[in-house]
Amino acid sequence: MTRDTTLLRPMDRVVIVGLGLIGGSFAMGLKAHGLCHEVVGCSRSRSTLDRGLALGVIDRAEPDIQAAVAGADLVMLAAPIGATEALLKAMAPALDGNTVVTDAGSVKGNVVAAARAVFGKVPPWFVPGHPIAGSERSGVEAAKADLYVNHKVILTPTPETDPEALNLVQHTWRGMGADVLCMDVAQHDAVLAATSHLPHLLAFSLVDTLSKEDENQEIFRYAAGGFRDFTRIASSDPTMWHDIFIANRQSVLDVIGHFSRGLEVFKTAVEQEDSQAILGIMTRAKVARDHFTKMLAKRAYSKTMTEKNIVFTAHAGGAVKGSIRVPGDKSISHRSIMMGSLADGVTEVFGFLEGEDSLATLQAFRDLGVTIEGPNNGHVKIYGVGMHGLLPPHGPLYLGNSGTSMRLLAGLLSAQNFDVELTGDESLSRRPMGRVTKPLAQMGAAIESQEDGTPPLKIQGGQALKGIHYDMPMASAQVKSCILLAGLYAEGAVSVTEPAPTRDHTERMLRGFGYPVTSDGNKITLIGGGGLTATTIDVPADISSATFFMVAASITPGSDLTLEHVGINPTRIGVLNILRAMGGKIEVHNEREVGGEPVADIRVQYAPLKGIHIPEDQVPLAIDEFPALFVAAACAEGTTVLTGAEELRVKESDRIQVMADGLQALGVKADATADGIVIEGGPLGGGTVESHGDHRIAMSFAVAALRAEADITINNCANVATSFPNFVELSRKVGMKLDVAEVGESHA
Ligand code: S3P
Repeated sequence: MTRDTTLLRPMDRVVIVGLGLIGGSFAMGLKAHGLCHEVVGCSRSRSTLDRGLALGVIDRAEPDIQAAVAGADLVMLAAPIGATEALLKAMAPALDGNTVVTDAGSVKGNVVAAARAVFGKVPPWFVPGHPIAGSERSGVEAAKADLYVNHKVILTPTPETDPEALNLVQHTWRGMGADVLCMDVAQHDAVLAATSHLPHLLAFSLVDTLSKEDENQEIFRYAAGGFRDFTRIASSDPTMWHDIFIANRQSVLDVIGHFSRGLEVFKTAVEQEDSQAILGIMTRAKVARDHFTKMLAKRAYSKTMTEKNIVFTAHAGGAVKGSIRVPGDKSISHRSIMMGSLADGVTEVFGFLEGEDSLATLQAFRDLGVTIEGPNNGHVKIYGVGMHGLLPPHGPLYLGNSGTSMRLLAGLLSAQNFDVELTGDESLSRRPMGRVTKPLAQMGAAIESQEDGTPPLKIQGGQALKGIHYDMPMASAQVKSCILLAGLYAEGAVSVTEPAPTRDHTERMLRGFGYPVTSDGNKITLIGGGGLTATTIDVPADISSATFFMVAASITPGSDLTLEHVGINPTRIGVLNILRAMGGKIEVHNEREVGGEPVADIRVQYAPLKGIHIPEDQVPLAIDEFPALFVAAACAEGTTVLTGAEELRVKESDRIQVMADGLQALGVKADATADGIVIEGGPLGGGTVESHGDHRIAMSFAVAALRAEADITINNCANVATSFPNFVELSRKVGMKLDVAEVGESHA
């Protein structure tokens, strides 16, 4: 080809063959964006061409196809796809190899076959394409210049396609605002059969069926929004859709078969009044549809949320006052879904944390075939499937940012009789998994990770696990819990010793579900092969989330804040012990036990803090609270020294380095050491800090602003939603001044 595709100059002539909604809108898009000098319309129908001219859609009409295309830069075939072969044949004598031809047909296999039939091969200048845009309206009158703006256009080049021809077509679509992607012909046809052709077929069929019923007058009179929404596309052009169903016959038949089987399952569930099955179908569908809606609206959700750079600006000064309840405990929320799913019977959870991390666990169990209703205001209803009732998921389980989900699920899933792959976001994909795969391998599990021990984890099912004793090298509740959950399926006893006490929610909750677990000093034991009985779980407020406000009140003169219903499990209260040792004024009121977990209201008032050497035995008891405690240390008088906390380097970020960098950016003397940090209390300036996508770092610096001399800007805060979705709202409620903005892509 000799064409100059530097793509900077507008084309001289583009020919649109077939001037309906699609071709007309393409013509208008070209003109609106100055992509060519002349747009020529070609159609069998003189009246269509006249209307196109009258409406200004085209510059010139040329009914003779050969005269139209000879010497053109680009030809767009936008006639019904059934006509493709005839049109290619008709224009062939006028094509000299310099004209690029593309099309807009909804099926690509038959278009490519038509090109082969006419030219003996797919010509290099032919670029099959399909804009995913349209309307139930048809005809040139319905054409709009912006029909393709922000819509996807799929191009399906073949190996024979000339890259320059592909470039020209891509450039043209992009020039009118479309989002272009390339796909294989067969894949295109299978995907479109499912997402477009089947829904149209169902809409046509439903309206036809209902309209044949005797009382159709009545039916249509009372048909409300649902009917209108579902059947809108039954007003689409029947000839065009006839051609599509025939052209994509095999893929359409495949997907009808698939759908019919699903419908049959739904029918049986209704017939048998099987509420669990009915709710299972609908809760899964609702989640999928909500996800899709958010994707379309480009709102936060799992994968997409970390791509957003949410920036917090925390304004300097203020004090915190009042009484609030922070969201549910993350660790307990995860475990409630896991055990509720494996139990016999229906488990109800109240106070469930609706954060991205615990929702990742919830979605994983839905993907494993468990029916879960909610969460609705923290209420979740889990229809347990029993110890052996999980089903193989349809694809990898995506666990977002959540290390707890991945490590605990690794244990539980290595005992199932199906294969499964666990994946996560960028941060989770960097975190060490050898700490769980090693003991699991000793139990007989078959798990593959990356060479350096990071995710994804590929778990091979069908392994018989055996009991082991494991002496944990690090104080980690995740490792302990992983082994205990795998141990539920093991032959014989599984025991773990921990070098220091770590959170014991797994042990407590297992007992709550009726599974015997013994704790003898630092050794925890259970015997595999038992079952879980459904129960009710009341999740206390998360002490880790409450920590941000405890520190906020402690460092800010004039503060007096009560945190309600906070979990004060002895394995989680390191933060209370450390803050008190620093001089914090903390009162614990109304202590009570809720569902096997101790809970209290915690009142924190301002008090001048002093630096301390944090006792190492407190480290595992406050493991998630250090970023906030470092802020307290920066506001204390004297030096705070932390040792024995190397685990902080492998959390959602390297919390030692990231906090040291952030504090230094604010003018605080903070020196990272191999296993901790040394912080000199002193004045805090303002500035910009990087959270590295770590939720707890982001929230800690928001709190620091209360004592800073100028505002603090915090980058990459989207992941606050993993553990504390209403942090901003609650912060403002107690008196913090926090602004939130979304600025393009994150670089976490
Ligand atoms: C958790 C244990 C801790 C903690 C994490 C939640 C749990 O991790 O940091 O946020 O729910 O078991 P490690 O066990 O790795 O210390």
